[in-house]
Amino acid sequence: MDNILQTIRLDFEILNSRITYLDSGASSLTPKPVLDAMNEYYNEYRANIHRGIYAISERATAEYEKSRQKVADFIGSNRVEEIIFTRGATDGLNMLADMLADMLASRLKEGQNIIIPVTEHHSNMLPWRALAHKFNLEIKYIYLKDGVLDEEALINSIDDNTAIVVVGHISNVLGSIHNVKVISDQAHQKGALCIVDGAQAVAHIPVSMKDLGVDAYVFSGHKLYGPTGIGVLWVEYELLKNLTPTRTGGDMVDYVNLETIEYAPIPQRFEAGTPPIAEAIGLTRAIDWVQNIGWDYIQKHEQDLVKYVWEQVSNRTWLKILGGGPEQTRIACFSFIIDNIHTHDIAYLLAKENICVRSGQHCASGIAQVLDIAGSTRATFGVYNTKEEVDILMQALYQIYTKFQ
Ligand code: ALA
Repeated sequence: MDNILQTIRLDFEILNSRITYLDSGASSLTPKPVLDAMNEYYNEYRANIHRGIYAISERATAEYEKSRQKVADFIGSNRVEEIIFTRGATDGLNMLADMLADMLASRLKEGQNIIIPVTEHHSNMLPWRALAHKFNLEIKYIYLKDGVLDEEALINSIDDNTAIVVVGHISNVLGSIHNVKVISDQAHQKGALCIVDGAQAVAHIPVSMKDLGVDAYVFSGHKLYGPTGIGVLWVEYELLKNLTPTRTGGDMVDYVNLETIEYAPIPQRFEAGTPPIAEAIGLTRAIDWVQNIGWDYIQKHEQDLVKYVWEQVSNRTWLKILGGGPEQTRIACFSFIIDNIHTHDIAYLLAKENICVRSGQHCASGIAQVLDIAGSTRATFGVYNTKEEVDILMQALYQIYTKFQ
């Protein structure tokens, strides 16, 4: 373990409890500076934002808006107004689908289609299926090729009737990184919107809205070493200004009387009610924390882990990894099956050794369905994970495998 990794691990008290945490794809652990920042808010300036004219409320407002700027810079947004804080990635996608349904109501018609890869997490599938159902649109599913999303088929299936293309930046089951730029360019050539679920991406690769050229991008704080209960919905400004809030209430209006409403400026009009204030402050610190480590280290460390896992897997033929092989670019997200052992049995036996993984279909049941499997066991790595933890996992899996022979 190098010195940087040792220092990183010191930020996580939970790692002293002798767990092997390999479930960062579900939720990453939270480093101490994030907890400290949130505690500071609760202890020193706990107040609502945008409402009070007293000092602690003004400080809370300033910190909340600083967080918006931090996120905007982190994801290479053109304008800070493009950042809408939500409760999470799922919340952002549902909110966006509702707003697009309103905006496109007069334009969507039978014969048009929505493109959805079978690899999508339910969060980036079910809201769009509901929208397709509402407007009688065709859903074009895109399947797998060589174990991963068939991106060529996706590109080729975008046609003049395509209204929306949705895609995950990185599959939460296969770990594969999708070429979002090429997909969004093709979508735009055909006049379609391109919406991206970045939940699995933002903690693993640098993302830039300027470079990706998508219409909307969502992610959650809790997979980015930040708190639960906060997410980001980024919408390109030209599109955003044509959207109408589907959630109404306090803090999203400039003026209301019994007959009329004037919405607050963008993005406040999309954040009805008291937002996740402490969580936004925590998210700022999480981004600081990631930036302090730096993408060079994060990505190199992750690719070292990927390589190491493949080395370990190469002489364990009974361990079948889903997705592409070692030649495929992926993050350290490995879903696997062992023939004749149920995924939940594997996870249960690993849990008895204090090894935390996820089992089942990982809320992406399209993959299990097309592969005709009950599910898989998934080990996902964060920047704090070590090669020693890969060894612990491999040894435990071998014990499980031999137990069932
Ligand atoms: N979306 C999270 C996962 O993949 C919860 O586990």
